[in-house]
Amino acid sequence: MKCESTVNFVQGPIVGLRVLGPADVPQWAAWFNTPAVTSHLNKGAFPNTQAAQAEFLDRLSRSRNDVQLGIVDQTASLIGIVGLHHIDWVHRHGDISIVVGETAAHGRGVATEAIGLMVRHAFLKLNLHKLTAGMWATNTGSRRAFERNGFQLEGTLRQSFWHGDRFVDEIRLGLLRAEWETRA
Ligand SMILES: CC(C)(COP(=O)(O)OP(=O)(O)OC[C@H]1O[C@@H](n2cnc3c(N)ncnc32)[C@H](O)[C@@H]1OP(=O)(O)O)[C@@H](O)C(=O)NCCC(=O)NCCS
Repeated sequence: MKCESTVNFVQGPIVGLRVLGPADVPQWAAWFNTPAVTSHLNKGAFPNTQAAQAEFLDRLSRSRNDVQLGIVDQTASLIGIVGLHHIDWVHRHGDISIVVGETAAHGRGVATEAIGLMVRHAFLKLNLHKLTAGMWATNTGSRRAFERNGFQLEGTLRQSFWHGDRFVDEIRLGLLRAEWETRA
């Protein structure tokens, strides 16, 4: 698949993070119409379109308050996305999002490593001070992947999301650069 560079922007042991391009839009857009991907996400209530995904990519590609990258496996296939959003350059914090869109890649440590690579980029390259992440309380895998990278529980927002038959809480996690450095 054509991408913006043949070299990954960031490289880890099992996954790389690469720049996303227009050729990635159909696969990326389809993930948000897939129930197995959206079951614990604030997506899936309305259909996602390639046009909306392309507009999102265009906007984030020009933003200096977001870093959106694709997650690729060792065969260079796109399997997910990881993003750093709402970067605040005064207070030096940002919020990480993660989607492993190819469900065959779930449970293999992809999210844990991709989050770790984005954390490193955020602290060492962008010089941020604090990172946050949020997820539905039912999203055990997401919470665990962030906690494996040192994120700690900072708060619970009660009954924020409708989950088919009940409202579920939002979990808010945080990681300070100093905490991350003591782990390294
Ligand atoms: C949630 C998600 C990011 C996890 O990605 P992943 O690559 O499968 O996660 P990892 O393999 O790195 O696993 C991280 C940990 O969570 C556990 N885990 C993963 N999926 C799990 C699940 N569905 N239920 C319970 N535990 C799970 C793993 O066993 C692992 O724990 P360990 O470190 O103790 O062994 C992925 O399933 C996904 O993208 N889902 C759809 C989109 C989504 O929900 N994104 C998160 C939004 S906040």
